[in-house]
Amino acid sequence: MQSIQHFIDIWPGNFALQLVYLLSSITFIIGLKRLSSPDSARKGNLLAAAGMGLAILGTIFLHRTPISADGSEGFRPIGNLVWIFGAIGLGTVVGWMMAMRVKMTAMPQMVSFFNGMGGACAALIGLIEYRGLAAHGGVADAGFLLIIYLGVWIGSVSFAGSMIAYGKLEERIKDFGGRSLQMVNLLFLAALIGAMVFGIARPEAVPALPWIVAAGSLLYGVLFVLPIGGADMPVVISLLNSFTGIAAALGGFLYNNQVMLTGGILVGSAGTILTILMCKAMNRSLLNVLIGSFGSKGGAAGATGEQVVKEISATDAAILCAYAQRVSIVPGYGLAVAQAQHTCHEFEKQLSEKGVEVTYAIHPVAGRMPGHMNVLLAEADVAYPKMLEMDDANPQMPNTDVVIVIGANDVVNPAAENDPSSPIYGMPIIHVDKSRNVIVMKRSMGKGYAGIENQLFFGKNTRMLFGDAKSSLEKLVSEVKAL
Ligand code: TAP
Repeated sequence: MQSIQHFIDIWPGNFALQLVYLLSSITFIIGLKRLSSPDSARKGNLLAAAGMGLAILGTIFLHRTPISADGSEGFRPIGNLVWIFGAIGLGTVVGWMMAMRVKMTAMPQMVSFFNGMGGACAALIGLIEYRGLAAHGGVADAGFLLIIYLGVWIGSVSFAGSMIAYGKLEERIKDFGGRSLQMVNLLFLAALIGAMVFGIARPEAVPALPWIVAAGSLLYGVLFVLPIGGADMPVVISLLNSFTGIAAALGGFLYNNQVMLTGGILVGSAGTILTILMCKAMNRSLLNVLIGSFGSKGGAAGATGEQVVKEISATDAAILCAYAQRVSIVPGYGLAVAQAQHTCHEFEKQLSEKGVEVTYAIHPVAGRMPGHMNVLLAEADVAYPKMLEMDDANPQMPNTDVVIVIGANDVVNPAAENDPSSPIYGMPIIHVDKSRNVIVMKRSMGKGYAGIENQLFFGKNTRMLFGDAKSSLEKLVSEVKAL
């Protein structure tokens, strides 16, 4: 109660600002909670965005800076409003246009780009605060300097790393360096940490050290991501996302700003949990992702020359599905590439009208980003109860008449279970091979993300329907209609 009175005594608007921050923090937490289910995710996102808008406007209009250190000369409001709103307007237009134009398959790189911007902001905050301190001849204590250095370091690494990840996913930057570069990176990292310790212990020795650390961290961010396999970028992006969150939380410490602290901690911890979950779902350690170069080379379980694949025509596939009792659809990255989600839903509806029980079996790392398939199918209005998670779908496979694999490959590859030399060995898969019939829709015998052959395609109950997923599904739709 005393502290509330204290706020009001100092300056009543400050109390209102703290309330705004509290409200915003609550929207972040509720918003994040809602992201855990596809049917509430959209509203959760909007709620958290509204909370962020409130926090920004609250800061601009309610924040006051004391004119003298003890506040005895009064307070002044935030200036430079034209610049601030100009930048917000520009950022909103650019961000809006990028988000509206982005294809579903390019989502990971857009997330990476936006994440990089967050990292850059966090690093700039540290540098600006250090400059302000130096300009006023202030002597910072070790704790303050530690927060500045950590923010500059983590934010810069996140910015530069995210830009390289963006370039790799856009296929503009190739994997480069390998293990020798990773050794150089370790030495570089040690040098950066040494420089920061020195800067904290003897702040007056090299006044420009934070800028040197920022430049070094930018270079380190580039070198850190360059040797990591392009295919591992989604995991790296999630890791860098958690870095950005931590860097933003450090900014919250600097400003004693609770909403920044809460937002940063939520992003940092959610990013860390997501990174761990992605690694777990692929049965790989984070270290293996960071130094393992997965997916760039060919792998085990190659097909022998004698194996033949059996093809199926769209007409036969349609008949098989239409007269089945239970059909399961396993979507993968190819569904996103083909943008076939709406046609897929159309096909599912037609089968349902014919009395077939249709469900989707969704692997946790199908596609290229967490929840990729759920988002794609939700966009096409597929009912959520029809989307079964892998653990619920697998027990039903032996009672399933037809499984249709649409643009999925690694997530249904039996090598993950029966070939210890395979790079995906140990990754849980959807047991489509246990069903009575498997129809695989893909364009060719091309490999998936892990770059390995798939013995499923040669299985005795598997038939291949070659072609772009969307055009194959369109054929199926018209064939089922004609039955
Ligand atoms: P993949 O194993 O990558 O296979 C996708 C298949 O889609 C390819 O074999 C390709 O074969 C086919 N395809 C591409 N374009 C197509 C089109 N237009 N029409 C039809 N088919 C098309 O996909 P998956 O099974 O979804 O597995 C995901 C992989 O990504 C896993 O290895 C996972 O570990 C990895 N990964 C996922 C994530 C997350 S969070 N989802 C993150 C990092 C890594 P063709 O070229 O022959 O058509």
